[in-house]
Amino acid sequence: MSVDIHQEKLLILDFGSQYTQLIARRVRELKVYCEIHPFNRSIDFIKKFKPQGIILSGGPASVYDEGAPTLVREVLDLNIPILGICYGMQILAHSLDGVVTKAPKREYGRALIKVKKESLLFRGLEQEQPAWMSHGDRIEKLPDGFITIAYSNNSPHAAIQHSKRPFYGVQFHPEVIHTPKGSDILRNFAFLICKCRGLWTMKSFIESTINEIRSLVNNNQVICAVSGGVDSTVTAVLIHHAINERLKCVFVNNGVLRKGEAEKVVSVFKNNFKINLSYVNEEMRFLEKLKNVTDPEEKRKIIGNEFIYVFEDYARKISGIDFLAQGTLYPDVIESVSFKGPSATIKSHHNVGGLPEKMNLKLIEPLRELFKDEVRELGKELGIENEILWRQPFPGPGLAIRILGGVTPERLHILREADDIVVTEMKKTGWYWKVWQSFAVLLPVKTVGVMGDERTYENVIAIRVVESKDGMTADWVNLPYDLLGHIANRIINEVTGVNRVVYDVSSKPPSTIEWE
Ligand code: XMP
Repeated sequence: MSVDIHQEKLLILDFGSQYTQLIARRVRELKVYCEIHPFNRSIDFIKKFKPQGIILSGGPASVYDEGAPTLVREVLDLNIPILGICYGMQILAHSLDGVVTKAPKREYGRALIKVKKESLLFRGLEQEQPAWMSHGDRIEKLPDGFITIAYSNNSPHAAIQHSKRPFYGVQFHPEVIHTPKGSDILRNFAFLICKCRGLWTMKSFIESTINEIRSLVNNNQVICAVSGGVDSTVTAVLIHHAINERLKCVFVNNGVLRKGEAEKVVSVFKNNFKINLSYVNEEMRFLEKLKNVTDPEEKRKIIGNEFIYVFEDYARKISGIDFLAQGTLYPDVIESVSFKGPSATIKSHHNVGGLPEKMNLKLIEPLRELFKDEVRELGKELGIENEILWRQPFPGPGLAIRILGGVTPERLHILREADDIVVTEMKKTGWYWKVWQSFAVLLPVKTVGVMGDERTYENVIAIRVVESKDGMTADWVNLPYDLLGHIANRIINEVTGVNRVVYDVSSKPPSTIEWE
């Protein structure tokens, strides 16, 4: 008998906090499945979702603001355990006729909270502990039936609970690492209060997903475009486990891949995974289209569109394909109410959106419930090697957006060789695994140099190494000078056509990670 991994789950109602996704990740680390949904989901939706408990996230608003997000009142009648975090606690109190006011002093940062009353929420924890606060409002008067279970110097009601009903609230953020015992508090909520058991394990996820894929696909076939990246690889391997040779994988060489990349992907799929992969080499087709194109967005559009044409051509040749598999992850699925920031629209990112409708295929997205770190855990469980699971992100338009200006075979050759040196040295020293991305960029300028007694007039390579959590913001990495010097030396000595190497010391914002 397989376990139904969705039989116990928590619902996180998102009131716009930048930490909402963190709450979900902490809960899932406890092996409890949870989903994030906007705060205004209907009561019918919530009833149908059947959560074991509900967490109300924090948020930037004040409960008295015009248009401030409110709690669907009927939620309180379901008698399901509720934990309100920061704004979530204030809106819980406000909905039950408590009084929330501006705190005399905005509280931001570390605070010491002191437990005042025995409570399931703090079971097994010390009486005093550090917690992370970030709020301007606070509860002035508790709603009827509530008691204070912890306080801090600035927050007389740092944690509250109802004396009879399963309602809890914390003014601080248990989901952030600055609240060291935060996970224990969430564990107490999930296990002691909501009575979850922790059924969400990767093993049970694999088992139940494989069953789902089998019954969904039946005797039909699935097509999956793979890139060698984490998401598409894990998607393919998982589906392959479910339906074997009825999965058709295709890898398109778009002419702007890194040195040895195509050969490596083909070999890993064939030899390691024993997955039958079709290698479609369309280098010339893409390079022809990119000829004389210098505008970055134009390059992206051409590569994205051409990919779709190539993929369609290929799919047409195989009969009986009903499904298209995609490695969509949970962060792309969440209808978050928090601000995404303007960066999402600065560059149009290439994906295969639009394909399924056009080709009349049904979509299959086995990773759509997972965060990136869960995908890596899943990959590990499926036996995929770390080299792939911890590979740095590589953009769909590839080296085309790292060759500033026109893309030519000569320029591609120079960049491939230089980039290979960067990656090799970063891996050799272990830095590759510590940073978000590390790569070379070919600049469209020539500078003067001297080699032997000869004057040279050659290309410049920029090295870009950044650390980041999600690519939205990034910092340049303070690499050791020795390493930088060694990389520069190797590039200048070994790559014909380069006589100068520079290091990019700009952060995002205001720069971006890629140069185009
Ligand atoms: P930027 O340059 O916008 O990059 O700071 C943020 C992250 O996104 C990647 N990136 C892309 N990925 N298609 C992709 O699939 C694109 O067109 C694209 N542009 C940037 C970039 O490598 C970094 O990880």
